Amino acid sequence: MMREERDRSLEYWEQIFEETRELKIQTDDWLDEFDSIIRGCSKPVLDLGCGFGNDTLALMQKGKQVIACDQCENALSNLRRNLPDVYETKRANMLDGLPFADDSFEVVIADLCLHYFTKADTLHILDEIRRVLVSGGHLFVRVNSINDVNYGACQGEEIEHHLYLNADGCLKRFFDEADIREIFGAFETVFLREERMMRYAADKYLFRIVMRKK
Ligand SMILES: C[S@@+](CC[C@H](N)C(=O)[O-])C[C@H]1O[C@@H](n2cnc3c(N)ncnc32)[C@H](O)[C@@H]1O
Repeated sequence: MMREERDRSLEYWEQIFEETRELKIQTDDWLDEFDSIIRGCSKPVLDLGCGFGNDTLALMQKGKQVIACDQCENALSNLRRNLPDVYETKRANMLDGLPFADDSFEVVIADLCLHYFTKADTLHILDEIRRVLVSGGHLFVRVNSINDVNYGACQGEEIEHHLYLNADGCLKRFFDEADIREIFGAFETVFLREERMMRYAADKYLFRIVMRKK
């Protein structure tokens, strides 16, 4: 990603978290089906691109220690205020690699945060996720679907297959199943389904994905 787009993305998200300090955390049940994997892991869980802390809270309610990680200081300070018992917060930009040792995690969550990058950057981030996962560890992901019409599906200038530069000057990718099978190809697919999410005001169409490190 170009420096300019990276800075714009950071500025865009910092502004959102500045404006939504009081927003109530909204958990949903997308991880519940995989309770045995999540509750069974012994290491802390990494919540990448944690944002408001929706998944951090859901994981804490499952009794997990969570490392909440985001590029935005405003997201992390909101999260620490709303969830003072969080195990750890870590500020990091995924484009710089992940600031964790090899084999640190049995479970990594990346909810709605892996669809902002060029294919090369996405593959680099996924390589990093594989590095920090133990062998047999699981990655839980949700990404935009090409059918996500209420949230700008395929609007703007297409700068790569299914990657768009939108009106905010930020990159946004919309996946189809073939994109997922290709981009996540280094993992074993455990679960892959297109779904409608009702966490936001309008229905959001996304893929729910569970991958296992081979
Ligand atoms: C749509 S929000 C999702 C937040 C949360 N995971 C959830 O589902 O509620 C996207 C999040 O990804 C973060 N993000 C985007 N690009 C990032 C990057 N390069 N490194 C780290 N975090 C990033 C944003 O700061 C934002 O918090």
